[in-house]
Amino acid sequence: MNKKTIKDINLKNKKVLVRCDFNVPMDENRNITDNARIVAALPTIKYLLENNCAIILCSHLGRPKGEVKPEFSLKPVAKELSRLLDKEIIMANDVIGEDAKSKAENLQSGQIMLLENVRFHREETDNNPEFSKELASMAEIYVNDAFGAAHRAHASTAGVAAYLPAVSGFLIEKELQFLGNALNNPERPFVAIMGGAKVSDKIGVIESLLEKVDTLIIGGGMAYTFFKAQGYGVGDSICELDKLDLAKEAMKKAEEKGVKLMLPVDTKVGKEFKPDTESKTVAWTEIPEGWEGFDIGEKSIKMFEEEIKKAKTVVWNGPLGLFEFDQFAIGTNSIAKVLSEINATTIIGGGDSAAAVRKAGLEDKMTHISTGGGASLEFLEGKKLPGIECLLNK
Ligand code: 3PG
Repeated sequence: MNKKTIKDINLKNKKVLVRCDFNVPMDENRNITDNARIVAALPTIKYLLENNCAIILCSHLGRPKGEVKPEFSLKPVAKELSRLLDKEIIMANDVIGEDAKSKAENLQSGQIMLLENVRFHREETDNNPEFSKELASMAEIYVNDAFGAAHRAHASTAGVAAYLPAVSGFLIEKELQFLGNALNNPERPFVAIMGGAKVSDKIGVIESLLEKVDTLIIGGGMAYTFFKAQGYGVGDSICELDKLDLAKEAMKKAEEKGVKLMLPVDTKVGKEFKPDTESKTVAWTEIPEGWEGFDIGEKSIKMFEEEIKKAKTVVWNGPLGLFEFDQFAIGTNSIAKVLSEINATTIIGGGDSAAAVRKAGLEDKMTHISTGGGASLEFLEGKKLPGIECLLNK
C-alpha cells in the first residue's frame, strides 16, 4: 500500500480521531447480531492504547438521513466494545455538540470515547467542510479504519483528512493487502464467484474481473437475466429485462478473453416467496411459468465444486440463492463448504456472502472475509476509494 498507516506516524500520547465502520446488524431489540466489524477494529484500537493515545472513535450506523433517531444510536456498539475490550467506553450524546466536545477535551491518554452516529448530521454525507473541520478540531491525528465505508466520500471518511495528518488503521491495510493481492497477483487458476440478485449491481465488477480471472462463475438471481439473454423463459424469476444486452456483452467479452464463464445448468424453483413453499429442480432451459428460481440445482453445485477445487485463488461475492430460506440455501452453503476445504487463497466479499459463511460456522476456514460490502465491490471493480485516496502518501 502506498498510503501511510498508523505505523508510519508518531502518535505516542496523541489525541486520535478514528473512523470505524460500526454499521453492524441489529435485531428488533437492538441487540447486535453480528459483531465482526467491531472485532475487526480491535487491533487498531489496541495499538493506539499501547501508544498511550486518547482515542475518539466515530462511525455511522444505518441511514438516519441527517436526523437524530434513537434507533440509530451507537450506544449498543459502545456496550459491545466495552465488553470486548473489558474497558469503559465513554459515550458522547452528540457528534460535534457540547457533550462530545467537552468529553473530547477532557479525554485522557488511555481512555476511549465514542461519538454518536455521524449521520445524525446531514453534513456528514454531504461531506461538508465545516463539519469536517469541527470533527478534526477534537483531535491531533486522523486514522481511517472504516474499510466498509471507504467508498463513501463523506466528512468523517474523507473530508476530515484535509484538516489533520491522516493515516490508515490496520484493518484498511489488511483489506487492501488481501483484496489487492488476489486481484493483481493471484496464484492461478483464479476463480471468481459472483452471486446476488441484480446484474446492474455487479456488472462493473464482472467486467473488471473478466480482465483478471480464469473462470467466472455466475449464480444467484443474476443468472436469470443471463438465461433470458440467451432467449429462454425464466418463469417468475427475478430478471432485469433492460440488462439483457449487458449480459450478452459480458458473455461475449468472456469468450474473447478466453475466460470460462459458467452459469448454472439447473435451478431450484419455488411456487411462492416463503420458506416452506413447494419446490422442485428443473433444467435452466425449462423454468415453468408460475415458478420462481430461488437456488442453483444439484448438477450446478457439482459442476461449480469441481471447478472451484482446481482453483488456487477464489474471490466470492454474493449468495447463489435465497439463503435466508433453508431449502434454498443449499447452493450457497455448498459453495461455502467447498471453499473451506480447498487448499487455496479464499477471499469472501462482505455483505451476504460473509453472512452466509458465518451462518455456516466456516469463517475460520477462509483466508479473508472482507468487512466491506459495497467497498469491496468497488475495489474489485478497480475504482478509487475516497476514504483511502485522502490519506497521506508514504
Ligand atoms: C456498509 O454497510 O456497506 C457500509 O457501512 C456502508 O454503508 P452505506 O451503504 O449506508 O454507506
